[in-house]
Amino acid sequence: KQILLLNGPNLNLLGTRQPELYGHATLADVERDAVALGTTLGFDVTCLQSNHEGQLVDWIQGARADVAGIVINPAAYTHTSVAILDALNMFDGPVIEVHISDIHKREEFRHHSFVSYRSDEVIIGQGVDGYQQALRMLAERL
Ligand code: DQA
Repeated sequence: KQILLLNGPNLNLLGTRQPELYGHATLADVERDAVALGTTLGFDVTCLQSNHEGQLVDWIQGARADVAGIVINPAAYTHTSVAILDALNMFDGPVIEVHISDIHKREEFRHHSFVSYRSDEVIIGQGVDGYQQALRMLAERL
């Protein structure tokens, strides 16, 4: 089964970006571990990251054909993007939303997620282990 792991803006700098909030693992570490766990679970995990909202929308649209499930950390677009929500609403499979930090314990503008209107599960504040938990949740649903 094909799985898409999508990461939004500034997550390309994971590991160096505010490590007190996001930890020391890099995006490459996260993606390597996701591909490895995916193999164990019988998934073919494709990992994509963009700083651009429209690029994320294009990838989600493209997933409709042959992707079974999506794990997405929309990063800052979580709190602003109706476009990403609309794109996810056209996707039929399970969607798991991941946030590395605990967005409910941070600034108030981070408390609201547009993407959560569509997400089947939301994993918050588990560090980068949240991505592994998300893949396991997909395995249960697929
Ligand atoms: C984040 C939380 C967002 O508020 C923030 O804009 C991010 C990362 C997280 O993983 O904790 O870029 O999605």
